[in-house]
Amino acid sequence: MSNKELQALKERYVAAGAASPNEQFADHATNAELWDADGKRMIDFAGGIGVLNIGHRHPKVVEAVKAQLDKLMHTCQTVMPYEGYVKLAEKLSGVVPVRGHAKVMLANSGAEALENAMKIARAATGKTNVICFDGGYHGRTFYTMAMNGKAAPYQTDFGPMPGTVYRAPYPVPYHGVSEDEALRGLKMAMKADSPAHNTAAIVIEPVLGEGGFYAAPTSFLKEIRKICDENDILMIADEVQSGFGRTGKMFAIEHSDVEPDLMTMAKSMADGMPISAIVGTDK
Ligand SMILES: Cc1ncc(COP(=O)(O)O)c(C=O)c1O
Repeated sequence: MSNKELQALKERYVAAGAASPNEQFADHATNAELWDADGKRMIDFAGGIGVLNIGHRHPKVVEAVKAQLDKLMHTCQTVMPYEGYVKLAEKLSGVVPVRGHAKVMLANSGAEALENAMKIARAATGKTNVICFDGGYHGRTFYTMAMNGKAAPYQTDFGPMPGTVYRAPYPVPYHGVSEDEALRGLKMAMKADSPAHNTAAIVIEPVLGEGGFYAAPTSFLKEIRKICDENDILMIADEVQSGFGRTGKMFAIEHSDVEPDLMTMAKSMADGMPISAIVGTDK
């Protein structure tokens, strides 16, 4: 079918919430190139929003997926675990720069990873609140929607949001927020809104993605680490977008030598297959 025919079908049958400004439909893709339904060839600068750091349909990934399809598609690992889950956990544990021995839980999407990271943080600390940052993006489920530091468009029409989510400024000098001001804002949030004894986690993208591709300075990340250490708060690095080579290292947090307690990852972890992970210190 042509782009035009597909667009007509989409308008008739696909819910408006699954919107796209693009009226071209992807037909096939290889590495950095993509062809639409009319046969037009283009360079894919979006890569599924940071999902395709190794390009479309990397041969090793395609081979692995095909081999798995021929073997086993699903058991639900809580019913019957399988080798792939355990081996992937071992691999991730070896490359993720969290404190101490890292353990892994797998999920389906970035938002689900964040939801689970928050469940872990609450259970581990016995506290409820989370502090996130202006401009941050964490997903479209209810709790992650509340965590997003961009009310419009993500929360528009969907309120009220879950409580226990508080916000601090992200240091972006380009937008007039210096590192000192951001730190003051974080301390103020902890003074006025979410005191340490209620705060389970501080969640930060080491490089803001949706919020405009700004990297947090090392000294800022170190301050967050210190605040977390002093107050029994978990530091969670959301590397759903910045992970898997996006910034030149496996994970963006590695540029700072700061070790978070938990990390969330998804997107380029699987070259387009839906999988995410929550990785953290076994403690
Ligand atoms: C930093 C970050 N966290 C979480 C998410 C949510 O991931 P998903 O769309 O897989 O739910 C995204 C998605 O863009 C993201 O960039």
